[in-house]
Amino acid sequence: MMKHFISILDFSPEEIKKTINIAIAMKNNQIETPNLTKLFWKKFTVAGVFEKSSLRTRISFDVATAHLWGNYIHLTPENSWLWWKESWEDVTKVVSSMTDLIVTRTYSDEVLETMKKHSSVPVISWLDAHEHPCQVLADLMTIKEVFGSFEGLKMAYLGDADNNVTYSLAYACGLLWIDFTCAAPQEYQMKEEKLKKTKEIFMSTSANFTLTNDPQWAVKWIDIVVTDTRTSVGKGDEEMRVACLLPYQVNDEIMASANEKAMFLHCLPAYREKEVTSSVIDGEQSYVFQEAENRLHAQKAIMLHCLWCTDYLEVKHSIAHPGLWISTQVVMWAWLS
Ligand code: CP
Ligand code: NVA
Repeated sequence: MMKHFISILDFSPEEIKKTINIAIAMKNNQIETPNLTKLFWKKFTVAGVFEKSSLRTRISFDVATAHLWGNYIHLTPENSWLWWKESWEDVTKVVSSMTDLIVTRTYSDEVLETMKKHSSVPVISWLDAHEHPCQVLADLMTIKEVFGSFEGLKMAYLGDADNNVTYSLAYACGLLWIDFTCAAPQEYQMKEEKLKKTKEIFMSTSANFTLTNDPQWAVKWIDIVVTDTRTSVGKGDEEMRVACLLPYQVNDEIMASANEKAMFLHCLPAYREKEVTSSVIDGEQSYVFQEAENRLHAQKAIMLHCLWCTDYLEVKHSIAHPGLWISTQVVMWAWLS
């Protein structure tokens, strides 16, 4: 089975924790990336397929690939036939036949599904309409660095609940037994099917999932306060958003209602003075730039997990070097356990 990472739910709680531990270890130079990459006997290539803009995701994957001694190729409609001449099925078959990993940021569910179906290499989502799994792994890494563990923590998300970051966060909190409170106006609630999925995940844990439209109440006794850009890429109705989402702005009053040492997270880009005030985002409780830097370390760990811990590698590379494959896997897991 190939290890895709389209949803945070594609990783088990153990895989999430292990990936975060690897990311933190690499960040602190406890595992040196040159040593790790010596274990690769084939240089690997990552294809980035882009439909939307990006700063953090694009740069972190590009640099992470370089740190792991791989090649990164950036494909856009301007430099390839994407989107207008070839079918996505053909594009996926061709790209995956020459590369080892596809990372993609798309508008369309159909494109992602086509990629998953026809790719011969793992596919990682760089954000889509439903989730932003790589972002949330970096968020969890930041939480682990600050609090040391996950169990028993309380997170509150304020803002548009029908949002890719919110869904990935909600699912991740359920998997890791973090209480999750979502404060959103009636107009921007979670969609039925995803709400059902979230509730099902929380049913099997001892953590709590709460919905409210009271932002002040939502942050009481909360350790982690999160919001996201008021208008996600591709979404409109700006005027209505201004009216509905202003009461959910994270400001000094909101932070004062949370725990004294509560952290503030925002995946960025931020619309300052809209979903968050500058006093909060630049304040002492804000970890947004640590969170952004952690994208780099998290991406490395995600790529290693998708490339290495799958039958895909065994099939693709072990035939010529079965002994080497087994020994590198043993070394890798011994190191990382
Ligand atoms: N947080 C995030 O994904 O940022 P970019 O859109 O700049 O990649
Ligand atoms: N929810 C935002 C995240 C940006 C990184 C969006 O989809 O635009």
